Formats: sequence, C-alpha cells, structure tokens
Amino acid sequence: MPKRRKRDYLIRGFSKLLKEDKVKIVSELMDNQVEAMELLKSFWHTDGSKQKIFDEFSENTISNYYIPYGVAPNVVVNGTTYHVPVAIEESSVVAAASSSSKFWSERGGFRAEVVGIEKLGQVHFLWNGDKNKLVIVFDELKYYLRGATKETTKNMESRGGGIIDFELLDFTDEVDNNYQIKVTFNTKDSMGANFINSCLEEFAQALQDFFKTHDIFDEDEKDCEIVMSILSNYTPNCLVRTWVECDFEDLDGIYKEMSGEQFARKFETAVRIAEIDVYRATTHNKGVFNGIDAVAIATGNDFRAIEAAGHAYAARDGKYRSLTKVKIEGTRFLYELNVPIALGTVGGLTSLHPLAKQSLEMLGNPNAETLMMIVAAVGLANNFAAIRSLVTKGIQIGHMKMHLFNILNHIEATKDEKAKAVEYFVANKVSYGAVQKFIENLRKN
Ligand code: MEV
Repeated sequence: MPKRRKRDYLIRGFSKLLKEDKVKIVSELMDNQVEAMELLKSFWHTDGSKQKIFDEFSENTISNYYIPYGVAPNVVVNGTTYHVPVAIEESSVVAAASSSSKFWSERGGFRAEVVGIEKLGQVHFLWNGDKNKLVIVFDELKYYLRGATKETTKNMESRGGGIIDFELLDFTDEVDNNYQIKVTFNTKDSMGANFINSCLEEFAQALQDFFKTHDIFDEDEKDCEIVMSILSNYTPNCLVRTWVECDFEDLDGIYKEMSGEQFARKFETAVRIAEIDVYRATTHNKGVFNGIDAVAIATGNDFRAIEAAGHAYAARDGKYRSLTKVKIEGTRFLYELNVPIALGTVGGLTSLHPLAKQSLEMLGNPNAETLMMIVAAVGLANNFAAIRSLVTKGIQIGHMKMHLFNILNHIEATKDEKAKAVEYFVANKVSYGAVQKFIENLRKN
C-alpha cells in the first residue's frame, strides 16, 4: 500500500482534476487509502446521470454526504393537513415535530399568516458631494435605476413581482462618504437571490452613470465609488406569524403531575426566561430552527440565509431574545412564533434537486407564502415539543431513547442485539456506558 501523504501540503489545481484523481489524492491523506476510496465511492449514486446532477451542484465534489430524509406527518396549518418532508440528522427532531403536530392537530392545528414578503438588497457607495443635491434628484434617480434594469425585471414583473422601492441612506457619520441605496423587491415564489443581485449590479453601474451625466452635480461631484452591491439576508418584512391556542383545560393530561393551567404557567415562565437571557434564548431559538431548517433543506431552500435572518430578527431591539412568545388571557393559552423566512418554491435547487422537487409535490406544490407558513409551523411544533419536555420530564429521556440506535450502531450491535436492547431500555436509562455494558453482557452470555 502506498505511503500516506503528509497533510500539510498545498494541492495545486485541485478543481481542474478529474473526480477519480480528486478521490485518489484525498484518500492519500488517510491511513488506509484503498478503504477510503471505496468508502467515498460507495456513496456515489449508481445512476451516473443522477450523480452528475449532484456533482454539478457544487465544486470539487468527491462523494455525497447523506443525511436522513423523513416525514413529519399531520401538520395542520390553517385547516389543511400537510405531511411535511424533513431532512435532518438529529434523531429527536422529527419525533418532536410529529408528536407536537399530532397534539395540536387535536386542538385546532397551527394558525398562520404571512405578514410580508419583501426582500432587500443594497448598493453601498462612497461619494463626496452635497447630499442635498442627491435628495433633490432622488426621484429622478429612482426612475433612472428602474429604467436601467428593465430587461432584467421584465419576467419578474410579468409574474407580479419586481422592484418595490428605493431608499437613500446616509452613513457618512460612521464611514467617510458612505451612502447606501436600499432596495426592496417582491420576488414572488422565487427566493430571488440571483434576480436581486443582478438588479443591484445594474443599479450600481447606472448610479455611476447618473452622477457623471446629471448637470446638478459639479465636476468634483461626478465620481462615485461603488463599494459593493449585494442582497441582504436580513429580511424583517419577509415575515410569517404562526400560533397555536387553546383553553387551559385542553392542556390537562399533558403531564400527569400538572394541571393544564400549571403546565401553561410553567411553560410561560420558560419562554419568559428565553426572552430575557441570551444564553437560554439561543438554545430556545435553536430548537425553533431544528424544525425550520429541516423543512428548508428538504425543499431545497437556503437554510443558512433563513437562520441568519432569524437570529438577526431575534436581536432587533438590541438584545437577542426568544422568537416565540406566550400570551395568557383568562384561561386561554396562546403560543406564537414570528420569524422572517425568505424562501422559494420555484427556481434554484427547488427544481434541480430531485428530492426537493418531490418534497414540494408532497406538500401539494405550495406557493412561497404557503411554504413560509408550513415551515414556520414546523419550527413552532419543534419548539413547543422542546419546552413541553423541558418543563415536565426533561429532554434526556426522549433524546437518549432516540439516540439508542446511534449508540447501537456505533458499537456495531447486530439486529438481534438491537431488538433486545430496545426492549431492555424501555424501562432503563440510556447512556453510552449502559448500552455498551448491556451489549457486552449479551455477548458474554
Ligand atoms: C436540541 O436540539 C434543542 C433543544 O435544546 C431546544 C431547547 O432547549 O429549547 C431541546
């Protein structure tokens, strides 16, 4: 077997190599190169044309990295039942979404509304001139910028979207000569990132032309330097609200040691803590994103963009807080989530990734607004399940039960050993050590 390569060397021209050669070079970093190559190749799709699709999503592809793709059934949103595709590696997330969705499906389901669908982009530029002149000609500039992107916006306009408005922002107090043109867009059912970025780059060019050619500007005001033109992932007006509500008595029985009212009040306290304490808020919101990300990934959406917006929104008043809140009025318990979710149901990965396409079909090919509501409902479902466990029996019982299979796989338990372990751990506490000991004992006997 060839000697293992040292890890600290530069690989030149990697992207230009054939896939086979990339696999070979990477495998040379491992102790057992033959095994490493086999492992990487064992995750290639057997159908070459399908594999090609995946190879071309990205650069330097050497294999596929699998994560489980499953379904959270019975998510009732505004009276319609969805069986929601979810892609996630954390074992308890799907179980949590499912049990919470079932619970609420018997209490009216999730209600949801889209508050807004505005997306945003910015042209950041440096200009050393008389700001008043810019303010005077700003309406003219807006018209000029719209004209400059006519070709690019034509299709989007025919679908009912396009540019909504422009705003001039002055940051010269903080960064010398720095202004911004902030643009709002409606990208209908597409995420719209490419559309927005194309428009912004055209605005930037047009802005420079405008300064050069408009006679309101003196000679020394005719140059502006474009710093960058890019969409903003912070989309506070691409917002969805989802909520569940019921009477205290509908919560009776949720935990044997509490009445419905006691549960509701303890739940409220837990959420209040997540409103005031950043450490708790981060974990609380992570639980919301367990659900949101899983559906975003399954439907081919950019979960990093959605997370970034959500966390920025959680800190919108200057302090990072919980994205959810509880309202108790009389005997009524209401639990709601407000979260920006910029996503698409057409274009991008949604039509290229075969499973993303299927996920959308599973949901009845929703438009972007409906998908926003479904995604948010699954986020709230996951969060509700987490808080319900935390304020009652704790999360470890459920988590470790779900984790049992990971542990069993890790210690290479056989099918028979797994069956025995599942039976035994119904009544016993799961830990890595306990499972290991149980399997060792089985093997001894
Ligand atoms: C685990 O993935 C998510 C939780 O930690 C969320 C929470 O604490 O609210 C259970």
